[in-house]
Amino acid sequence: MDRIGVLTSGGDAPGMNACIRAVTRAAISKGYEVVGFVKGYQGLLYNKYRSLTARDVSDIIHTGGTILGSDRCLEFKEWDNVGKGKQNCDELLLKGLVVIGGDGSFKGALDLTKAGLPCIGIPGTIDNDIGCTDYTIGYDTAMNTAMDMADKLRDTIQSHDRCAVVEVMGNKAGWIALNVGTAVGAMAIITMECDHTLEEIAGKMKAMNATGKHHFMVIVSEGVAKIQKTTVFEIADRLQAATGVETRATVFGHVLRGGNPTLRDRVSATQMGYHAVNLLDDGISKRVVGERGGFVVDYDIEEALKMTKDFDMNLYKIANDISL
Ligand code: F6P
Repeated sequence: MDRIGVLTSGGDAPGMNACIRAVTRAAISKGYEVVGFVKGYQGLLYNKYRSLTARDVSDIIHTGGTILGSDRCLEFKEWDNVGKGKQNCDELLLKGLVVIGGDGSFKGALDLTKAGLPCIGIPGTIDNDIGCTDYTIGYDTAMNTAMDMADKLRDTIQSHDRCAVVEVMGNKAGWIALNVGTAVGAMAIITMECDHTLEEIAGKMKAMNATGKHHFMVIVSEGVAKIQKTTVFEIADRLQAATGVETRATVFGHVLRGGNPTLRDRVSATQMGYHAVNLLDDGISKRVVGERGGFVVDYDIEEALKMTKDFDMNLYKIANDISL
């Protein structure tokens, strides 16, 4: 019997389990056996896998993390290791492989297709930083988690008339920061995609203070720290010095990667997983699945890796304009 393989790679994201479930059950419904590789490309390279039955993926649609484990496998960037992985897949009689992860994971899938193994990528990352799709699995849950945490933070900054400077994940992209900042009514959103100076933000804070606003929330994307080599702690110190408002920094960090996936993440993960198996079953390979305007689409992996997406400057302007 032909087999279809599945793995999760890179940073984990809520909804990966829902996607593994969809891939497994879609494949079984078409008559395949399913093999799940453990810890991403590591499992492929070192032959660590488990067979997945319909029952093995019961009761996981609502859980965070990934039952297969995940890893960023640097060894898989070496061509010899890609060959070794392909050989392992041949021995397992794999018809094709579904890779759930980000851009780095798709590069591995591209190499495997070049080595002769049909592969399909599915965007699974909280960062929403993949050009070929409007939406990535895990993004919605991460944003909602950050929003809940920021709401809790608001209680205490309100009580103490403080400013909170919050760093949210997102790698080098500001999508989570932009949406969370908008959803919590942040006084300022700082991301790499938008122009801002701390002097401007401090000036705005002082003006708002003068009109009776005494607590403030500033949401900073992780990319600012990664690229500008500054930290939310430095930003908080500088804002406090410039405004006199007592300011605290908080890093939400990896908490955003955990938790039960939202409805949106579960549904998207299910649709994309199902679509990926259909592609392999139709003999189609070297594609990345995505969402465009609410529809499931797919693109050639090489084209997908070159795609970029425009930051939502309109939302940024709205959030900024109404922060008074
Ligand atoms: O890509 C997901 C992500 O959580 C990013 O937001 C973050 O920059 C990175 O992974 C953190 O990676 P690690 O878990 O390896 O520290």
